[in-house]
Amino acid sequence: MEFNGKTALVTGANGGIGKAIVQRLKDAGAKVAAADMTLDGLEGSEVDLLLPGDLQDSAYTRGLPQAALDALGGLDIIINNAGVMRRGAVTASSDEDFELSVAINVKAPFQICRAAIPLMAERGGGVVVNTSSCWGVHPGPDHAIYCMTKAAIASLTQCMGRDHAHQGIRVNAVCPNEVDTPMLRTGFEMRGFDPETAITQLGETVPLGYVATPGDIADVVMFLASDAARYMCGALVEVNGGKPVG
Ligand SMILES: NC(=O)c1ccc[n+]([C@@H]2O[C@H](COP(=O)([O-])OP(=O)(O)OC[C@H]3O[C@@H](n4cnc5c(N)ncnc54)[C@H](O)[C@@H]3O)[C@@H](O)[C@H]2O)c1
Repeated sequence: MEFNGKTALVTGANGGIGKAIVQRLKDAGAKVAAADMTLDGLEGSEVDLLLPGDLQDSAYTRGLPQAALDALGGLDIIINNAGVMRRGAVTASSDEDFELSVAINVKAPFQICRAAIPLMAERGGGVVVNTSSCWGVHPGPDHAIYCMTKAAIASLTQCMGRDHAHQGIRVNAVCPNEVDTPMLRTGFEMRGFDPETAITQLGETVPLGYVATPGDIADVVMFLASDAARYMCGALVEVNGGKPVG
């Protein structure tokens, strides 16, 4: 896949899946602006621009596309990858769980897309890849707020895919099932399980035989961001190793 000279903004760039996406974009020749709360792991790497900040801060979030455009000289690709997972049924969830999850998983990509789409349209088009989840398309147990927010970003993706295709802007979403990242591992730790053992056991429930690696998801994100997906708009691409939700 050809990304030479392309410019990309990636949120959640210092997380499990985010790091794999950034690495692939850099390896393929793109210029990358990396956004995350902290970017410690990426300092001194080949990333072209570090944009540390909190996606709950609307001024920061709304400004990300312009900041990337100004520094990189273009804005071809946006990967809205940052996310949080609060677990539990509605009766076990707080207002803070709700507000944080909506802010990061829905409002931030909404604000970034709203700011980026006119900039991309002016330049003849662009690509957005949002991060939903299989759990947003097929709700699973005990993650009510997470599923709701991932359903919301899936729906926004379908709407934006339809509304902005005429501007040459393709908006699609990747929908992973379980992926071996800090998000999954901290969940096991919080419940008192050894993450290594838990990941191995979870892998046995996946028809392909293992829990997805960040690279398994990043490769699909790269496909959606590439010209190989040039006719895809508003698609929700499930990446699940054959495992249904539930
Ligand atoms: N790991 C999984 O099993 C899984 C499954 C389906 C979907 N996803 C989605 O994939 C995406 C990446 O998740 P991951 O598994 O790599 O998790 P991760 O926790 O490793 O990475 C998430 C990143 O988002 C960043 N982030 C969170 N809140 C932020 C804020 N307020 N401001 C700025 N950045 C913030 C974090 O700092 C972190 O680097 C998420 O949207 C997640 O919901 C993950």
